[in-house]
Amino acid sequence: MSSSRFVLEEPIAFLRWLAAARQAGWASFDDVEVAQVFAVAATAALGRHDGRERLVLPPASATGAARFAHAIGLDEVLEGDSAREPAEHDRTVTMTRIRSYGQAESLARKIVGLLLPTRPATDAATLFWWVLVELLRNVVQHSMDPAGGIACAQRNDSGPYAGSPALQVVVVDNGIGVFEAIRRTQPAVLTPAQALVRALEPHVSGTFAEGHSGTVHNAGLGLFFISEMAKRTRGRLFLATRGATYLLDRSRSPSTQPTVTNGQSADYPGTLVVFETALDQVGSYDEIVTGIQELAASRTPQRIVHRWLRFEQPPAAVARVLVEVAAEDTTAAHEFSSQHLEPKLLRRESVALDFVNLRVCTQSFLHALLHESVRLAWARKVPMYVVNATPTIRRQLEFVEGYSLGG
Ligand SMILES: Nc1ncnc2c1ncn2[C@@H]1O[C@H](COP(=O)(O)OP(=O)(O)OP(=O)(O)O)[C@@H](O)[C@H]1O
Ligand SMILES: [Mg+2]
Repeated sequence: MSSSRFVLEEPIAFLRWLAAARQAGWASFDDVEVAQVFAVAATAALGRHDGRERLVLPPASATGAARFAHAIGLDEVLEGDSAREPAEHDRTVTMTRIRSYGQAESLARKIVGLLLPTRPATDAATLFWWVLVELLRNVVQHSMDPAGGIACAQRNDSGPYAGSPALQVVVVDNGIGVFEAIRRTQPAVLTPAQALVRALEPHVSGTFAEGHSGTVHNAGLGLFFISEMAKRTRGRLFLATRGATYLLDRSRSPSTQPTVTNGQSADYPGTLVVFETALDQVGSYDEIVTGIQELAASRTPQRIVHRWLRFEQPPAAVARVLVEVAAEDTTAAHEFSSQHLEPKLLRRESVALDFVNLRVCTQSFLHALLHESVRLAWARKVPMYVVNATPTIRRQLEFVEGYSLGG
C-alpha cells in the first residue's frame, strides 16, 4: 500500500482503500504517497464521533499525505469545527463542517477568496463559488445527515498541474445518498446508478414529481448546472453516493463520456462530490451560465411560454423592492417572496424588483425568489418589473419565468 495515490484521475482506487479501511475500522494516511483534498475530506467525514461509523483515524504523522491531512485540519474536524488557519495560504483551506443554510454562501465566499485571492471578481472565482453554494445547499436540503457536511478545496499547480493550475473543491456528507433522496418522486428509478444519472438532468429532483418545473425551494437544476460547468471548462466531476459512482473527466479530451458504476464495489456511505477545473479553462462565466440555461430550456418539453416580467422602469406609483438581504439563502428568498411580493400581488398591486446590490447569484436563489411570485403575478394579471439586473441575471430571471409560466 506504500505507493497509494489518491488522485481524482482515478478516484475508484481511493474508494477501494476506504472500503478496506472501513472494514478494518481504522484508516491512516501514513502509507499514502499522495492524497488530494477530496480523499482526506471523504475519510474525515467518516471519522465522526456520533456512533454512526466506527472508523478510527489515528493522529496524523509527519509523512507526505498524512502531513497534508493534518495541515488541512483532519485532527480538528474530527472534534467539530475547525477555525485554524490553513498551513499554506493560497493553496489549501482547512476543512469546515456546515450544517445550515445560512453558512453556505459565506463559506463558499471564504474558500474562493482564500484560494483565488488576487482574482476575487473573476469568472473562475464566480464559477467555483456557484458550485460550492449549490453543493452545500444540497447537503443541508437533501442529505439528512445531522452532522451536516464537510467542505474543502485545494489549488494544485505542481506535477501534472504545472503550467495550468486547477482548483479542486469537495463537499461530502454521510447522509442518505442520492438514490434514497430521489426515488421518492421518481418511481422509474430502480438502481443507485440510475438515480445518479437522473439527478444530473435538468428539472429532476427528489422534491417534486417528474414533469414539474420546481417547488418553492428547488428547481432540480443544481447538479445539472455543475455537470455542465465541468463539461464546458474541460474539468472533472466525480460523485460517489451509496451504491453508485459517476466520473466525468474532460481534462484530456472534450468529448470523453462519463463512467458510471453501480453496486457495492466502489461505494461511499453518503454523498461525495468533487469538482475540479483548470483556472485557465474557465473562460467567460456569463457565457457558460447562459449556454447552460439554453440547453436546459431546450431539454424541457416544449410548452406555450408566457412572458410576464418587464425589464423597464416602472411607473412612479409602483413599489420598489430591493433584492439584497437574502442573497444565496433560498429559504430566506422564499420568505422574502411570501412577505414582500405575494401579498402585494394578491392585492393586485404591481412590484418592481431592484437588483442594484446583487451582481451574481445562483439559479436556485432566483428560483426561490420568483417561481411562486411570477406565477401569481401572471394569474392576477399584475405587471412585475425588474430594474438594475445585470445581463446575466436578466437571462437567469427569464429562464425561471419561462419554465414557471410554461404549460
Ligand atoms: N447531498 C445529497 N444527499 C442526498 N441526495 C442528494 C444530495 N445532493 C443531491 N441529492 C439528490 O439529487 C437531486 C437533484 O439535486 P439538484 O441539486 O440537481 O436539484 P435540487 O437540489 O432538487 O434543486 P435545486 O438545486 O435547483 O435547488 C436532489 O433533489 C436530491 O434528491
Ligand atoms: Mg440542489
